[in-house]
Formats: sequence, structure tokens, C-alpha cells
Amino acid sequence: MTDLTGRHGLIVGVANKRSIAWAIARAAAQGGARLALTFQGERLESNVRELAEELSDPIVLPLDVSSDQQIADVAAACDREFGGLDFVVHGAAFAPREEITRPFLETSREGFRVALDVSAYSLIALARATAPLMERRGGGSLLTLTYLGSERVFPNYNVMGVAKAALEATVRYLASELGPVNVRVNAISAGPIKTLAASGIGGFSGILQVYRERAPLRRNTEAAEVADMAAFLLGSGGRGITGDVLMVDGGYHVVGL
Ligand SMILES: NC(=O)c1ccc[n+]([C@@H]2O[C@H](COP(=O)([O-])OP(=O)(O)OC[C@H]3O[C@@H](n4cnc5c(N)ncnc54)[C@H](O)[C@@H]3O)[C@@H](O)[C@H]2O)c1
Repeated sequence: MTDLTGRHGLIVGVANKRSIAWAIARAAAQGGARLALTFQGERLESNVRELAEELSDPIVLPLDVSSDQQIADVAAACDREFGGLDFVVHGAAFAPREEITRPFLETSREGFRVALDVSAYSLIALARATAPLMERRGGGSLLTLTYLGSERVFPNYNVMGVAKAALEATVRYLASELGPVNVRVNAISAGPIKTLAASGIGGFSGILQVYRERAPLRRNTEAAEVADMAAFLLGSGGRGITGDVLMVDGGYHVVGL
């Protein structure tokens, strides 16, 4: 297990117990980290507060990543409570329902804007607000979550694939600028996992089945597997890794046929 004793982290993207961000929060807490969790809107607040009860001395804050003000408020609260940050997990993504049900050619200008804003631009905004808190600690680790739909076509993934391509490029540009202050920026590309966000993708259970049949490990990815890789990247084991997209998908991405 990665030792994160004495570290402080911000985890964005917990909606419920199936959220990949929640699996990462648990792994980080087991490693000894103290955490701030955020919830998007009142609808999810009670879920997140209930989950946070499992953690030791957490702080729970509202955050809609499309609001610069809320991002600034979260950074200020982490600064006040923790006196800095050692790591940040970005697990927020969204595309309007129409954009992942109708043909890609029908992608609307507004749907494109919202998907790219929430799923990709938000990493830049979050990095800008939190990098100074990590820099003060002598460095840190910023981690986001992506999917192979950034480089290959999956049915109905549509504008989310474009958003993930932008997110992965964002990881590289941020890594380049923040490396000199020892802030590392990486993404984990997870295999498909049944979560709230995934349930919006039409035909998702068919995608899970294809992975089970064709991935070298012949099974679906578990959130705990992603969380273990996340803990590694957040901790000292990942100290030499930045700008990277690490695949945790049972090896599916290497298969041709
Ligand atoms: N589940 C999968 O198969 C899979 C595979 C690869 C990557 N991912 C990525 O993992 C990340 C987490 O997704 P998940 O599958 O755990 O689903 P999830 O639904 O549990 O998490 C998505 C989170 O994004 C948050 N979010 C959406 N819009 C937001 C906004 N405006 N402000 C703040 N938060 C917002 C939601 O509240 C939710 O907590 C996403 O980036 C997703 O694309 C998921």
C-alpha cells in the first residue's frame, strides 16, 4: 500500500459509492491521507457527506467545476484547513444526454462547449487554483481520469471522446509548465466500469462484454484497480512520472482483433 501519511488531498468527482473518485479517496485514506471531498450540487450532497463519514476528519465542500468562483473557494478552504495540498484528483466529466445518444455529426455547438468545459477545461482551472498550494509543499501530484475513446471510436461516446482527447493534451501541457515546481500531472485511462456517468452511454453493457471477451486479462476493470494505480501516482512511487496517460484496462488497448 502507498504511504500517504501526513499528506493532504483534494478529491473532485465523488457522486456515489460506485464513483472511481470514491475508490481513489478510500485508497488514499487507507494510505493515511487526510482528504477534502467535493460534491456537485445539493442533489449529491447527502451521498458525499454519508460516504465522507468513513474517512478520518475530512472536509466536504460544494464544487461545480464550471464555476471559477467555486474553484477559488475550494482552494481557499483547503489552504485554510490543510495549509496546502499534496495532491488533487480530478474525476469530473459531463456531456449533455443528447450528445451521447444522437449521431456524432449532430453534435451541437453548445453541447460541445459544455462537454469540453466541464470535462477538459476544468483541469486547467483546477490546476491554476491548486498548483500554488502544492508548490508550497515542495511539489504535488495532479491526477485525472480518461478513456480510450480519446483515440479510438466507441459507439455513443461521441463528444466525450473529443473532450478526453483535449483532456489528455491538457495533461501534457500542464505537466510541462508545472514540472519545474515539482507538480506532476498525469491521467489514468480506465477500462469501462459501471458508474453513474457510464450509465449515460448507450450500449454500455455491450462494451463491458466486449472487454471481458477480448482484453488480455479477460475480465472487466475494477475501480479498486484504478485506485491502486492512483495511489501510486499520488505518492512517492510516482515521483518520476509526469505528462503521462497510464492504461488500467486489463490490457484491452493492445489488442488489434
Ligand atoms: N466509468 C467508466 O467506465 C470510466 C472509464 C474511463 C474514465 N472514466 C472517467 O472517470 C471519471 C469519473 O467518472 P465515473 O465513471 O466515476 O462516474 P461518476 O458519475 O461517479 O463521476 C463523475 C463525476 O463528475 C461529476 N461532475 C459532472 N459535472 C460536474 C461539474 N460541473 N462540476 C463538478 N463535478 C461534476 C459528477 O458529480 C460525478 O461525481 C470521469 O472523468 C469519467 O469520464 C470513467
